[in-house]
Amino acid sequence: MTRAIYPGSFDPVTFGHIDMIERSAKMVDELLVSVLNNSAKNPLFSVKERVSMLEEITNHLPNVKVTSFDGLLIDYAREMDASIIIRGLRAVTDFEYELQIAQTNRIVNPNIDTLFLTTSLEYAYLSSTIVKEVASYGGDISHFVPEKLIGRIYEKYNNKES
Ligand code: PNS
Repeated sequence: MTRAIYPGSFDPVTFGHIDMIERSAKMVDELLVSVLNNSAKNPLFSVKERVSMLEEITNHLPNVKVTSFDGLLIDYAREMDASIIIRGLRAVTDFEYELQIAQTNRIVNPNIDTLFLTTSLEYAYLSSTIVKEVASYGGDISHFVPEKLIGRIYEKYNNKES
């Protein structure tokens, strides 16, 4: 059985993440979508909120489980008996950082490989940071995140849905 981890901050989850989840879930027996519990990043949503949003938008995918983790990803992957880490590449600018992390992780544990998927072109520009920036000014985020999450994002900024 092949188990993979798709880790991230998901603060909040976007259509870009969902595209990655749907595509990678088809390639493995089980996909863990794992939220990093990193208070240093001062997230907009708590880990519990992020897990709950991910659960809602992945409930049509039977082989996807949502979890959260602390500490090093490579240690968590080993604990969960996952042999693959999935990461998305939007542009060349993502590559240098991702390559360094993937190589470091492989030195630490050569039994776990990082698999890179290129994001679909329609989401190549998209990031959680962009969603937060637009939402903080009350802008339209319907092109970036599922409709059922929009209210929760605006709520954080006390904006009315536009
Ligand atoms: O969505 P993000 O913020 O791009 O996800 C980054 C994430 C969570 C994959 C990365 O920060 C991570 O793996 N953090 C856990 C700590 C770790 O293992 N760091 C890499 C070691 S060099």
